[in-house]
Amino acid sequence: MANIGVIGTGYVGLTTATCLAELGHKVIGFDIDLSKIEVLSSGKSTIHEEGMSELIVKNLANNNLTFKGSIEAIKDCEFIFLCVPTPQDADGSADLSYVIKSSKDLSSLLKKDSVLITKSTVPVNAWKDVVKALDRSDVAVVSNPEFLREGSAIADFFNPDRIVVGCTSSEKAKQVSDLYKQPDIQTIVTDNSTAELIKYASNSFLAIKLSYVNEIAALCESVGANAKDVLFGMGKDSRIGSKFLEPGPGWGGSCFPKDVRALRVTAEDNAISMSLLSAALDSNEKTHRRIVDKVEKELGNSLIGKTICIWGLAFKANTDDYRESPSIAVIERLIGRGASVVAFDPVITNVDNNKIKIVKSIEESCKSADAILVLTEWEQFKKVNPDSVKDLVKNKVVIDSRNILDKKQWIKSGFNFIGNGWQ
Ligand code: UDX
Repeated sequence: MANIGVIGTGYVGLTTATCLAELGHKVIGFDIDLSKIEVLSSGKSTIHEEGMSELIVKNLANNNLTFKGSIEAIKDCEFIFLCVPTPQDADGSADLSYVIKSSKDLSSLLKKDSVLITKSTVPVNAWKDVVKALDRSDVAVVSNPEFLREGSAIADFFNPDRIVVGCTSSEKAKQVSDLYKQPDIQTIVTDNSTAELIKYASNSFLAIKLSYVNEIAALCESVGANAKDVLFGMGKDSRIGSKFLEPGPGWGGSCFPKDVRALRVTAEDNAISMSLLSAALDSNEKTHRRIVDKVEKELGNSLIGKTICIWGLAFKANTDDYRESPSIAVIERLIGRGASVVAFDPVITNVDNNKIKIVKSIEESCKSADAILVLTEWEQFKKVNPDSVKDLVKNKVVIDSRNILDKKQWIKSGFNFIGNGWQ
């Protein structure tokens, strides 16, 4: 069992700390936000993630996990994971200031021959800046990008598709991969730069894939084909694969938009033209617009004075995260075209935009609405009986951008049903 320190207890840090403790390691999670430390130390999760609170409570109780607001607490740790944010800078590049500041803070603190592991998503070659800021020749710097998806972070931690570890020392890389205790999982041991790029290359590929999926859905609508079947048929080709083929209101979240933009800056800095990245970003905005166009078309080609009932604010189901959520992008456009919105989300009760009225129930959201627009694929929305809301809405129009509702049932209840990519 190793003594592990985790710097930063956001989505990545909290999942890493809690799951490593669950594996039996002694883990200290550090965060500068003392209110977060207080909440976590009381056994509550600061993020909406299935199973997280239970694991925190269990590992606080068996002393495998502690949370501290002072960085000195990690001075005896052998392995230190850097899980601080790398937000987007004004030019789209990744802001490394938290990573560099933490590395400097750790310089005089880390014990001899310890290992500093970068888990934050950092642009290729950022590890060299970490080495410089740390300025400790005895401490190995390992690049170990995370691939956790919000909403299934714990399951992804214990059952990842792969573990990527990059280091100039293969011995240190092996020590880090051993911490995960997953001998059956494919582990890619490589150099630091390659490990860093695997993360950006993967996320950007997925974003490009989704932009393509959304464009295929748009084409299907125009030519009268069924996107559900087209994408199902495509997914049966093992070279394409059936995952990540669901059309939606656009892709979002804390990773994809930021990572695609940061990779584009890296490419530009190296005089490499990666035009697909720009195309994917543009296409994503077109998808937001296309969803708004669909609503407008169904409401007599004008949104002025119309009330749209929104189901879902989170960027995807099972998370309370609305950073770069396509729901917010679509809502802002609806409002921009003269509509007002009333939104319901099973976990989000407040957003940073006072033009969005958020209500506490599905029924409330439907009252006097001109159309229902589904933007997040929450399970709860699939289960709504259309008969229970049909008398609440002003117009019986439902636009399902995630293709999660039962079309036949909604039509039977008298609704005009509009899917995404099929009639
Ligand atoms: C992503 C990566 O998947 C993960 O490996 C990385 O570590 C962090 O970024 P996450 O942001 O949690 O994870 O969300 P993900 O499940 O990948 O979805 C991203 C976006 O794509 C969401 O807006 C989602 O709704 C959308 N999406 C996903 C679709 O529209 N259709 C799909 O078929 C899949």
